Amino acid sequence: MAILEPLSVECTSHSEEQTQRLGSRLGALLPRHAVVAIQGELGAGKTSFARGIGEGWGAEQVLRSPTFTIIQEHRRPSDGAVLYHIDLYRVAQEEDLRNLGLEEILDAEDGVVLIEWPERAAELIPPEAIHVKITPLSETKRHLVFSTQDTHTWQILLEFRKRTFGF
Ligand SMILES: Nc1ncnc2c1ncn2[C@@H]1O[C@H](COP(=O)(O)OP(=O)(O)O)[C@@H](O)[C@H]1O
Ligand SMILES: [Mg+2]
Repeated sequence: MAILEPLSVECTSHSEEQTQRLGSRLGALLPRHAVVAIQGELGAGKTSFARGIGEGWGAEQVLRSPTFTIIQEHRRPSDGAVLYHIDLYRVAQEEDLRNLGLEEILDAEDGVVLIEWPERAAELIPPEAIHVKITPLSETKRHLVFSTQDTHTWQILLEFRKRTFGF
């Protein structure tokens, strides 16, 4: 019987810049219809990682925290593709969640979706999503775990691992 690799990759980041660089590596690999669910407590580095994704993906503008706007839309000048950066921190009620139109965004064929506080909409996160869990280890150290339940999406994480860590 073949031994299956666990579908997760983990590493430690020693600075905000490093976290952002990791995001950038992943962002460069995301296909049009990718969903990245970024989990972690306040100040863990979710937005820093998302900013890196935006950079690697090719967003025209730097990603800033969408805590107050909840959803921020970014464009990629090269092909007009869209990236939705969503922060569900302030979304506490089911009803607010429905009013956001998150389902429509997740159903859209050609948008990359980044979600901070995805646990607030756990049932809407598709199985193909890439999960990134960031855990603070100290003031400047963060443990990052990248995982997916989907074997096709796993190929993206394998390529990410190869380009980032060389194996
Ligand atoms: N290794 C690291 N990775 C990410 N952020 C870090 C790291 N070390 C320190 N920080 C700091 O932690 C904070 C993370 O903020 P932010 O990315 O907005 O977090 P979140 O979106 O999870 O609330 C920033 O002030 C950043 O400078
Ligand atoms: Mg944030």
